[in-house]
Amino acid sequence: MSESFEIKGGKKLKGKVQISGSKNSALVLMAASILTDEDVALHNVPDLLDIHTSIELLEKLGKKIEFVENRLVIQQTKNISTEAPYDLVNKMRASIIVLGPLLAKYKKCKVSLPGGCAFGPRPVDLHIMGMKKLGAKIKLDHGYIDAETSGLVGAQIFLAGKFGPSVLGTDNVMMAATLATGETIIDSAAMEPEGVDLANMLEKMGAKIEGIGTSTLKITGVAKLNGVEYTVIPDRIETGTFLIAGILIGENLTIENCNPEHLAYPIELLKNMGAKIEIKKDSIIVSKSENLKPFTVSTSPYPFLATDLQPFFTVLGCVIAGTSSISEGIYPDRFQYTSELARMGADIKIEGNTAVIKGVEKLTGAEVMASDLRAGAALVLAGLIADGKTVVDRIYHIDRGYEKLEEKLSVLGADIKRVEK
Ligand code: EPU
Repeated sequence: MSESFEIKGGKKLKGKVQISGSKNSALVLMAASILTDEDVALHNVPDLLDIHTSIELLEKLGKKIEFVENRLVIQQTKNISTEAPYDLVNKMRASIIVLGPLLAKYKKCKVSLPGGCAFGPRPVDLHIMGMKKLGAKIKLDHGYIDAETSGLVGAQIFLAGKFGPSVLGTDNVMMAATLATGETIIDSAAMEPEGVDLANMLEKMGAKIEGIGTSTLKITGVAKLNGVEYTVIPDRIETGTFLIAGILIGENLTIENCNPEHLAYPIELLKNMGAKIEIKKDSIIVSKSENLKPFTVSTSPYPFLATDLQPFFTVLGCVIAGTSSISEGIYPDRFQYTSELARMGADIKIEGNTAVIKGVEKLTGAEVMASDLRAGAALVLAGLIADGKTVVDRIYHIDRGYEKLEEKLSVLGADIKRVEK
């Protein structure tokens, strides 16, 4: 039995929607709890599948967890384990984020290699290189990263690959370095807001980090980190999802509890295309925008256009007169879902790492399949604007990263329901 969304397109989205806490922030903040024996209390944690996978993993590693109404309390028990098994890493590749904290805290760990995902290879060589530079001995054995150290020592680490800095790689090395001896410099560090959130929480726990939010981080190791109470930042990708939904079909849609600064670049792009967007301190008001100009854009590391917003721009391009194009600068193969959009009448050609999108008069409802989280949510947006009924299958991908998506959309006026098939 699997679940699908059934959507009848054409309804306006009006009213207010509250953005949840950031999935990708919460996941790394939860992993950071491994660095301390004291309690970590997190507020604004979204209740979604990946968070539950992370809870399962932390429980396996010896944490006791209470999760009530978006507040998550993590406590240390005596049943410590340092192995992140395949069945959990396989469910959520972000589980690799326990590598740095386990190694720093317990001097050894075994973490399953994550493998690829629906939008292509997802290597972890930068994570491994970072740990090696900090003095860890690493063997790749039967699908596992087997790591140990007699004590991590600070180092200078250049942490970028062919596609730029690594978000979770930076977070892994940053966490490991907080308990290493001496000073670590991470050059070409990722600057994503979720990494900044992690650095801010680590500082509150007693870590010494300079250059937060820049591409060079200097971390001076300390002997021990303390417990902390901390609030997760709003989810910028969920914000972007509702923002584009509003441009497609909103009527004074108010997106609340968000941080528009984290979307400064895409908001500027959308405004330049003619989108009706009004920015407040922690909210955005957006309405359906007619006669938008076609766009040519590429995804890049923060502060530029996030790869996780790429599928939503593609859906937008589908209904803008003229030819738009979006290039993938992070995951060149992240276009699988465009064949599903084609089933809804979209005119998209993939040329290398670029989707060339010719606007069509309208999309038409069809049965389509989510191939990953963001692609799945983009198909939901396509369904909201399409003529007739759309069924999005395999919505477990969407449940991994969106808290109550169909409830939030229904409250705004969308005709969407979850059905069992
Ligand atoms: N890369 C390497 N070697 C590595 C690590 C990455 O070559 O060791 C490459 C990747 O293949 C990619 C680029 O570097 O081309 C950037 O990947 P990155 O490591 O930054 O990705 P990530 O940290 O594994 C996070 C988010 C993703 C988001 C990417 C890019 C989390 C939990 N995941 O992944 O979010 O797409 O950054 O911004 O933070 C999502 O939420 O749906 C999602 C996939």
